[in-house]
Amino acid sequence: MEEDANATSKEDAFMKRFKYYKSNKPKPSLEEVISVEKHCDDKITGCPPLDITDDPRTDLLGLRSLKEWQLYSFKGHPGLLFIKNPFTDSGQRYWIRKCLEEYPRKPNRLNIDIESNLQDWWAECFRNNTCDKQLLKKLRWTTLGYHHNWDTKVYSEDNRTPFPNDLAELSDVFAKYLNYKHFRAEAAIVNYYHMNSTLSAHTDHSEVNLEAPLFSFSFGQSAIFMIGGKDKSVEPSAILINSGDVVIMSKEARLCYHAVPKILPSTDSPWEKPEICKMNDMNIDISNLKYLTEPEKIISVMKQNVDNQEWDRFRNYIQESRINMNVRQVLNEKQSSLQ
Ligand code: SIN
Repeated sequence: MEEDANATSKEDAFMKRFKYYKSNKPKPSLEEVISVEKHCDDKITGCPPLDITDDPRTDLLGLRSLKEWQLYSFKGHPGLLFIKNPFTDSGQRYWIRKCLEEYPRKPNRLNIDIESNLQDWWAECFRNNTCDKQLLKKLRWTTLGYHHNWDTKVYSEDNRTPFPNDLAELSDVFAKYLNYKHFRAEAAIVNYYHMNSTLSAHTDHSEVNLEAPLFSFSFGQSAIFMIGGKDKSVEPSAILINSGDVVIMSKEARLCYHAVPKILPSTDSPWEKPEICKMNDMNIDISNLKYLTEPEKIISVMKQNVDNQEWDRFRNYIQESRINMNVRQVLNEKQSSLQ
């Protein structure tokens, strides 16, 4: 009897912690939450890659020089990596805007497609110069590339549209930094969280290629991210994610249970102070780009973003929301389709 009770409580280790952090009354203590800001030397280790040569694409993609990046690994979670906000402040504006204005356009798929198949959700939210707050709040996810099938969890060629070039290029910079030479971004889920949103425990196992890492980019409000083991009996860790932070689930961590039990108000708003001068003297050599064919489009959006009035709608959204883009490779290295 006692053994059985123990077995049940072990199985529920992940869910118990999830409920603890999700609770509003009483509020959870954040003491045990791992943060790279706090000194958690017993749980995390700084692990800069050896011999970093800078990547000529960083400025264009709104990233700091690779030499400034801070990479961490987690003692209890082999394969889990964390890069503390490698984005410039204008980079944060760029990616937030893309996730709101462009990625939710057709042919990409949205959670609201079942009720209203909108061509352009963001434009619709601001039709006639008024803000449809209800519609704004309804968007919970957008899928890109191979569209995740939420029912069958199976990707298919019939449900694939072009993957955005800028996000493919961004993911490639991170893959090269971590020495994944053959990584290709082929599918992504963009999640939109409000202050009371949660994401329940799950694993990402639909991809044919489970050797390739999963890159997870977060912007806006902060979050508690939980990660455990391959089943829910493993005691999870809770990690604080701030705007710009990047989590990489690779190797043993690639198939581990993870969840977001709580969104927390951010203590900083890096998207509020974009640098102006850098974009004016940006010199792009197109031969350094793998996916992007029109880098001038990025520069143009970054320049528009400096206008605080133009940026107002995005600011209003991100002040009360969190956006997470998680990018995966679906196919094996030598495959070009699922057939
Ligand atoms: C996910 O696992 O799908 C998203 C995680 C996050 O929002 O940080």
